[in-house]
Amino acid sequence: MTTIEQARGPLAAGSGEPVDLSGDQARAERVAAARRRHRQWVNLAIRVVSLAIALTRRVARAEPAVARPRPATAIAPGDAVKLRVNGRELSLDLEPRVALLDALREYAGITGPKKGCDHGQCGACTVQVNGRRILSCLTFAVMQQGKDITTIEGLAASAGASGDALHPMQQAFIDHDGFQCGYCTSGQIMSAAAMVREPWGQTDDDVREAMSGNICRCGAYPGIVAAIQAVRKGPTADQGARR
Ligand code: FES
Ligand code: FES
Repeated sequence: MTTIEQARGPLAAGSGEPVDLSGDQARAERVAAARRRHRQWVNLAIRVVSLAIALTRRVARAEPAVARPRPATAIAPGDAVKLRVNGRELSLDLEPRVALLDALREYAGITGPKKGCDHGQCGACTVQVNGRRILSCLTFAVMQQGKDITTIEGLAASAGASGDALHPMQQAFIDHDGFQCGYCTSGQIMSAAAMVREPWGQTDDDVREAMSGNICRCGAYPGIVAAIQAVRKGPTADQGARR
């Protein structure tokens, strides 16, 4: 039978045999190695910080950088942002971070574009810039300087209508019940009026796909598709498409 002393083996106190320290030595070496690595990391960190400080001082002593020309869309504090909206020149005192939608609604009083989601999900804010539909909540006003911005208020005039005459797409939305509450409607019409100039297929599904960025909570989609198809097919077909 193995006694306790036998089980403790060479480490047993008073056994009289040489003590086997291999386990302790290995542990001690591991600790020493860890300390060496730690010291190396500390030294490296000190060198990196010293280098960064030296570089910072050198940059601070360097000659001031040559001023670069500002991009055309940049504005400095105090500059006015100049927008051409519905053919009218506007000069607005805006911060560069103001979205086109907010510039139109809050600064210029043009409230046709609606704020639905304010992050590019609903299409209620759609306007046209140089004839192409864009989401005005996703672009800075300052980026649209020098371009032709059209909102629902100026859509008819942009197509040559005068007085109270409507744009054909506006009339088609009325004729085909393309709205209920109307909140999405200005965005729908602005989007649709641009979409008919884009190379989409002729089917209703093509129209749904092309207009998928414009959400209607009232679900007026059948009327919207009918209105757009009526405009695409022209006045004769428009008559045939009426209910
Ligand atoms: S408000 Fe611009 S996409 Fe919804
Ligand atoms: S008509 Fe109400 S959300 Fe489209």
